Amino acid sequence: LHSTLEEAKRAAAYRAVDENLDLQRHRVIGVGSGSTVIYVAERLGQYLLDPKFSIFASQFVCIPTGFQSKELILMNGLQLGSIDQYPTVDIVFDGADEVDANLQLIKGGGGCLFQEKLVSTSAAKFVVVADYRKRSPKYLGTNWVKGVPIEVVPSGYVRVLKDLKVKLKCENAVLRQGAPAKAGPVVTDNCNFIIDAHFGEIEDPAKLHQDIKMLVGVVETGLFIDNASKAYFGNPDGSVDLLG
Ligand code: A5P
Repeated sequence: LHSTLEEAKRAAAYRAVDENLDLQRHRVIGVGSGSTVIYVAERLGQYLLDPKFSIFASQFVCIPTGFQSKELILMNGLQLGSIDQYPTVDIVFDGADEVDANLQLIKGGGGCLFQEKLVSTSAAKFVVVADYRKRSPKYLGTNWVKGVPIEVVPSGYVRVLKDLKVKLKCENAVLRQGAPAKAGPVVTDNCNFIIDAHFGEIEDPAKLHQDIKMLVGVVETGLFIDNASKAYFGNPDGSVDLLG
């Protein structure tokens, strides 16, 4: 089963890159985080080694969305760039925890949501790579049951937990813990904390995103609204479904 899932992820990633990367026009490429994007970086690395494409691929500059992403870029021999140097990104490939029918997303299961949002909202095109489990039949919060990840400033986490409960009527919001690998909270690549807030099925993700974002102490939410243009979902049989 494990290898089937990996093959599903690889199939989605390869097809997303092959169908959306414009070798003549795209130079600044965002590389997201998670276990599916591993195969995006792998594919970009193959372009670099293929004599047919290498003249274009050698011009690529890859912008990471976190520590893991930076390592992926370097491991595949790709050129690393920073969002400071390249504030306009041509295209970004990133994973998602859940994708609804309108291409609204929950992200941040791996804790990288702030930089992912920074890069994806700086990109002309955002292509999601995922496996079949990530596709929600209707609302966000249906398949992904771990809540909406919210990145918060450490000194504000108690206040955010309180406001989520009192102002947004969220009965289940928890500070993400690092156990068993670490005692105490998960610390993000930006030295912040993550709160996972459960809202059940989310009918209006844009409104929820705005409401959370207004709370003092919130850096960013894992709701990615009107940002993705397409999503590729790999299936266990090796086929790929396209949304968008
Ligand atoms: C990282 O924080 C997340 O936003 C990932 O993009 C998301 O969790 C998808 O990861 P997988 O590809 O491992 O499912």
